Amino acid sequence: MRALHQAAFARDPATGRKRAPADVVEAPLVDELREDPGFLPHLSLVAVSDDAIVGHVIATRGWIEPHGSPALGLGPLGVLPAVQRQGVGTVLVHALLAVAEACDEPLVALLGDPAYYGRFGFRASADLGITAPDPRWGEHFQARLLTGPVPAPGTFRYAEPFARL
Ligand SMILES: CC(C)(COP(=O)(O)OP(=O)(O)OC[C@H]1O[C@@H](n2cnc3c(N)ncnc32)[C@H](O)[C@@H]1OP(=O)(O)O)[C@@H](O)C(=O)NCCC(=O)NCCS
Repeated sequence: MRALHQAAFARDPATGRKRAPADVVEAPLVDELREDPGFLPHLSLVAVSDDAIVGHVIATRGWIEPHGSPALGLGPLGVLPAVQRQGVGTVLVHALLAVAEACDEPLVALLGDPAYYGRFGFRASADLGITAPDPRWGEHFQARLLTGPVPAPGTFRYAEPFARL
């Protein structure tokens, strides 16, 4: 999984510029998330082609403070460059949302490009009363309600490995 994200995030998602391998923080982050108490195996989903993993999405346990209501933090999502723009990322996000909904999760939050995630129903988290862990993220911190109970307003807190980024 680490190699997949190392390749997928070889370019900075925000600028498109090539990054030094050590700057690809998403690769070790996935390893740490898989070791964290917030890891949820049913929300770590892969796409496979010719026996190789070509895409991976993960959501881990997060919280909405001050009440500590459970929610999900989505990310990283990565698709191998050779198979990008063929629908793999779209299917992975839809699949993850379907599993989350089936498990009565109330909300998924993420940091990402609104132009990409808007198509899945994500919107600026502030519209839903959810404050980003870092206010500088602005409209890039997005959230989507699921079918579970609507969470009380508050500040989103990711699983602990995100805090070490
Ligand atoms: C972003 C990513 C996961 C999308 O997966 P994918 O399989 O390539 O995407 P899909 O084929 O399902 O969807 C393609 C659509 O998304 C759009 N898209 C892809 N990346 C995008 C981005 N960064 N911002 C906006 N739109 C994007 C394409 O323009 C295309 O739109 P269209 O259908 O209207 O033409 C993949 O490109 C990737 O791994 N990129 C590098 C890592 C990354 O940026 N991850 C997300 C971090 S938030």
